[in-house]
Amino acid sequence: MAYPPLETRPCGGRYTDIVEAIGNTPLVELRRLSPKPGVRIWAKLESRNPTGSVKDRVAKALIEDAEEKGLIRPGQTILEPTSGNTGIALGMICSRKGYKLKVVMPDNVTPERTQLLKMYGAEIVYSPGDQGSNGAVAMALDMAAADPSYYMPYQYGNEANPRAHYEGTAREILLELEGRVDAFVAGLGTGGTLMGHARRFKEELGDRVKIVAAEPMQGEPVQGLRSLDDGFIPPIIDLSLLDRKIFVTNRDAILWTRRLLDEEGLFAGVSSGAIARVAVRIANEMDEGNVVFIVCDDGWKYLSSGIYTLPVDEIEDLESTLWW
Ligand SMILES: Cc1ncc(COP(=O)(O)O)c(C=O)c1O
Repeated sequence: MAYPPLETRPCGGRYTDIVEAIGNTPLVELRRLSPKPGVRIWAKLESRNPTGSVKDRVAKALIEDAEEKGLIRPGQTILEPTSGNTGIALGMICSRKGYKLKVVMPDNVTPERTQLLKMYGAEIVYSPGDQGSNGAVAMALDMAAADPSYYMPYQYGNEANPRAHYEGTAREILLELEGRVDAFVAGLGTGGTLMGHARRFKEELGDRVKIVAAEPMQGEPVQGLRSLDDGFIPPIIDLSLLDRKIFVTNRDAILWTRRLLDEEGLFAGVSSGAIARVAVRIANEMDEGNVVFIVCDDGWKYLSSGIYTLPVDEIEDLESTLWW
């Protein structure tokens, strides 16, 4: 039998290694959440990366950047503060490439994250949960200062982080939508996703594309996201590249995580619910065009929270700070 030539896109590509299989994620239209026929909402499913999150791209870029600059050698220990996803992605990549990994993580993240990190052979150092990711950053910086044998990629201050999106995610979105992106919404964690997309989109499309950040209300933590009002602005963030910041409560993030699941069949993590909520609000303000938002990870790591099966009216009644 004669086979037609294999096109990369329809089959998802053929790779020699799992690290190479990072990226080229699907872009899916969410028609039920769209408020008007002329406004189309697109979800970029970063949850479809090998370890299940947007951070696969970043971890690969951080390690390959250090390799290219001769900053690390096999067997060395990589140290990184992370609320989970970057650590899990680094765990997979370090185990493939022969590095040891130590992560500093708040002690109140979901147990699934701990299991995933251990599964990839990472060592975990816990920081106080009530200090959030800022506490993990401070502890990791102290550890790196005290022991120069560690290499700390430091995603909060490393340009390889936004570059992974500039060269990867943003480029893929432009290709799929043939340059017709009117608004882009992502969560604000390290700022890497927002900065990489903002640079690429503004460069190619000018000011007509609006870059919007979903930020949690201060004191209403959403795993993966940060409030800039907590006092730490990651060095890679250039606030002038953001057109808007919209605040989301923890309860809204959970409600919209459920709307993604119940109305669109999309099983996403809680930060994606917060981002979807902002994307729909932006779509409401437009008459026509494409709104793209990032689904940072899927829901597996949050199952133990019970939010995917809780009746929606009980979520509406929740004290939002009950959750993370
Ligand atoms: C689940 C989740 N959502 C959103 C983000 C935010 O992405 P970024 O760090 O690119 O701002 C992260 C980052 O760690 C995350 O883990």
